[in-house]
Amino acid sequence: MTTSIHRYAVMGNPIAHSKSPLIHSLFAQQTAQNLRYEPLLVSTEAGEFAKAISTFQAENGQGLNVTVPFKQIAWSLMDQLTPRAQQAGSVNTIWFDQQGKWVGDNTDGIGLVRDLTENEKLELAGKHLLILGAGGAVRGILGPLLNENLAKCTIANRTLSKAQELAALFDSHPISACAYSDLVGQQFDLIINGTSASLQGTLPPLPTGLLAIGGGCYDLMYSAQPTPFMQWAILQNATWTLDGLGMLVEQAAEAFWLWRSCRPNTQAVILQVRQSLTKSSPQSLVSNLPLEIGGPSGPEPTRYGDWERKGRCIDF
Ligand SMILES: NC(=O)c1ccc[n+]([C@@H]2O[C@H](COP(=O)([O-])OP(=O)(O)OC[C@H]3O[C@@H](n4cnc5c(N)ncnc54)[C@H](OP(=O)(O)O)[C@@H]3O)[C@@H](O)[C@H]2O)c1
Repeated sequence: MTTSIHRYAVMGNPIAHSKSPLIHSLFAQQTAQNLRYEPLLVSTEAGEFAKAISTFQAENGQGLNVTVPFKQIAWSLMDQLTPRAQQAGSVNTIWFDQQGKWVGDNTDGIGLVRDLTENEKLELAGKHLLILGAGGAVRGILGPLLNENLAKCTIANRTLSKAQELAALFDSHPISACAYSDLVGQQFDLIINGTSASLQGTLPPLPTGLLAIGGGCYDLMYSAQPTPFMQWAILQNATWTLDGLGMLVEQAAEAFWLWRSCRPNTQAVILQVRQSLTKSSPQSLVSNLPLEIGGPSGPEPTRYGDWERKGRCIDF
């Protein structure tokens, strides 16, 4: 008897940098699943993304991940959305049901919550959370975070109206929106950076004293070295700082579960992907640290030793 290999893919533009093919091949190896997962570069011309999904389905593709810039377009193209995709306003995971209908989910938020609560054993209930940014990623994580019974959630964004629109979408929860300048004098147990500022090697204008004693910081962005936001957190005496690699692997694990009904061991994969990051991008973000944030001139090099040893988390 011959068994045909199941096909999966991630669609985006650009796509060469994507870690999803590595993550899913590690999941497949670990769980002995017979599948192929490939990166597919899709043109951003109007209509090309929908055409690419149709072609993939016609070629017996089983499931897709979607990344920048197609997550919102994917949302509008689905025949059916899961409740969390509906709420997130974007889709990162697609499969085809028995009638061939396109079903979309968003696994980013559950990925972040699992990383915080299961991998890192952090308690979210009763905490005061500050989220920086109000783009697509923040909308995707808000619902699952608010379901964790936070005491309060504040969204701060450069464009205040976008933060206000997001807060209005979730107004059955204790949530508010503000500008960065309104943060002076406030304190939070947990700060999540959902801006793309780290990608530009910079930071939103944050006042000092934002972190409560024992508080920690999480950057949705991940990198071989601590991001500018994580470096800021160190200077603010954060008890812990994390980047978004755990979230990336956890959102992938949830997609794998949806497609294959099988849960991989994510801890091992986070470490393997961390090692691949270190190998593929020796360039450190440390040189981009905006020194005008004040305090000492930078974190001590020994802390990067800790970073590499633990794979992802800096504890003090
Ligand atoms: N780990 C993961 O699995 C994962 C998953 C998804 C996304 N991410 C990361 O999440 C981040 C945000 O992605 P996104 O898709 O939400 O992007 P997006 O929709 O383009 O939103 C970008 C956000 O960043 C803000 N911003 C950009 N540059 C800024 C600056 N210099 N100073 C202050 N604010 C700035 C924007 O503010 P305005 O509204 O004022 O323009 C907006 O709120 C990226 O770093 C991405 O890599 C990680």
